[in-house]
Amino acid sequence: MCGIFAYMGAKVATPILVEGLRRLEYRGYDSAGIAVKDESFTVYKKIGKVAELQSILPDNVPGNVGIAHTRWATHGVVSDENAHPHASVSGDVIIVHNGIIENSRTLRTLLEKKGISLSSETDSETIAHILDYELSRDNNPTAAMHRTVSKLHGTWGICAIFQNHDVMVCARNGSPLIIGKGDNEMFISSDPHALTTHTQRVVFMEDGDIATLTSDSISMSPLNGINKEANITVLEDEWGEAELGDFPHFMLKEIFEQPDALRHCISGRLDRVRGNGRLGGLKLSPLELSKLPHVRLLGCGTARNAAEIGQILIESLARVPAVAHISSEFRTNDPVIDPQALHFAVSQSGETADTLSAVKEIQIKGGQVHGIVNVVGSTIARQCGQGVYIHSGPEQAVASTKAFSNMVAALAMFAIQVGRSRSISKERGQKLIQGLQQIPHLIEEYLENQGPIMEAVNAVKNAKSVLFLGRGISAPVAKEGALKLMEVAYIPCLAYPAGEMKHGPIALLEEGSPVIFIAPNDHVKQKTVSAIHECRARGAKIILIHEKGDSISEEGDINIEVPNVHSDLSPILTVVPLQLIAYHTALELDCDVDRPRNLAKSVTVE
Ligand code: G6P
Repeated sequence: MCGIFAYMGAKVATPILVEGLRRLEYRGYDSAGIAVKDESFTVYKKIGKVAELQSILPDNVPGNVGIAHTRWATHGVVSDENAHPHASVSGDVIIVHNGIIENSRTLRTLLEKKGISLSSETDSETIAHILDYELSRDNNPTAAMHRTVSKLHGTWGICAIFQNHDVMVCARNGSPLIIGKGDNEMFISSDPHALTTHTQRVVFMEDGDIATLTSDSISMSPLNGINKEANITVLEDEWGEAELGDFPHFMLKEIFEQPDALRHCISGRLDRVRGNGRLGGLKLSPLELSKLPHVRLLGCGTARNAAEIGQILIESLARVPAVAHISSEFRTNDPVIDPQALHFAVSQSGETADTLSAVKEIQIKGGQVHGIVNVVGSTIARQCGQGVYIHSGPEQAVASTKAFSNMVAALAMFAIQVGRSRSISKERGQKLIQGLQQIPHLIEEYLENQGPIMEAVNAVKNAKSVLFLGRGISAPVAKEGALKLMEVAYIPCLAYPAGEMKHGPIALLEEGSPVIFIAPNDHVKQKTVSAIHECRARGAKIILIHEKGDSISEEGDINIEVPNVHSDLSPILTVVPLQLIAYHTALELDCDVDRPRNLAKSVTVE
């Protein structure tokens, strides 16, 4: 979704801003813009990609201070006028804003009554005019920002620059902003990922913070009036390259990175001798683990599918009741929270607004939440204050792949750890740990021999709809496969537990309808075979994901085999062909596989 990048220092700002925007591109956006301050401001805005903005920039734009933005439309259509930055009428103030100003209608009316005509349809533009008005009262940019945000309802990450003041003022409420401190230069970003090429020293702004920056100073003056020091965190190096390298697309690169991503996730967290997991970030004693009344997991999209697998693993291995929830539904349903229970917020970005709200709801009601998060220092990770980083490295394709497998691995380690404190024997624990250790290699083995993926692509690419079926632990894998294909190839996809198929989706089947079955060699496989027969009897074309050497292959029209795998861990392997089917189908249909239409990588609005 919307992204902010800003710079002040001694260097020419424009190339740094454009590069910053490029690093935010993966979040999803529909227009981009920059404003640079020299003797006066110059503003460039363009719908489309950052490359299109770049194409309208003159060769040398002078100025060492600037703000930049990628917009994902909420208020107002996608247009150059609605793109950020937005200037005040006098031209003395320019801002970029992430979030939603809920009272913008009222503010617009008030501004219009004062004779200010707004030049865009956005909620954000109102901020520029109010800030300018407030600045005219005492010529103090920090105080003006305080008075401005006190008039706003909603969420914001705001970054403002001023014609007559050599400072940048930032404000945060519900929309992330991170300050990067270089040597006599400052960077601001809504995403730590865009800062790390410049500096590892960052300040995570908190809700209610207002920061006034020069190129070598940060002054924090939160809305609550209690001034505080800027707390500098040194980001650790994450593994992985944010560049494409030899791959044509990030999605493919990230699919192929799964073995390494998993190695980083499990490294140091497996105790083979005791057959146990060793998740240091879980602040719970073995006694507390043994007494857990239940576990609830929260997530959206792919994270939610991973949470469903976590639910099954936690129940079956740890023998603790577990439920996975869709974050956006959780808070609105006024959930009962047991303070003794354990809650997990599962999120790649750590910024998903629905999941963050669910976390806050649990905390308000006295519950504890642990994060299962990829992005270090992200809002959800900090709000939880405890949990497990999944260490997938930067994931840039909108369709999540390597984060999914690492979320499942992290939840499996948790299930083993709790299981060992309750019911699982050492021997069973050892087999699971061994199974986890083998998975990266098994994915490599599969990726070297992917099977008839293109045959599957040909079967689905022109279908009216595609049905994904799996049972037990493969039911959420079916959901993830359907989500991937729908996201990147825009084909209507339906996922069902295989046994439920006869209660509805069977009505869709006609001659040649593609049905993708996920049927690893586990205790529910035979039941899945019955569902295959029911589909075949209605003329369906069966694409079957199964384990190597399994006679179930006789049931499929197109058989894609994966190496043999511990049955509790099969989702990490069976999901890979589904990711590849989605990827190649999107290419066949000429879709923008890394940045599918309308979707955003990080959804920061509820
Ligand atoms: C968006 C993305 C999905 C992602 C979901 C949750 O919908 O397009 O790919 O799975 O958000 O994101 P999170 O960062 O919380 O895992």
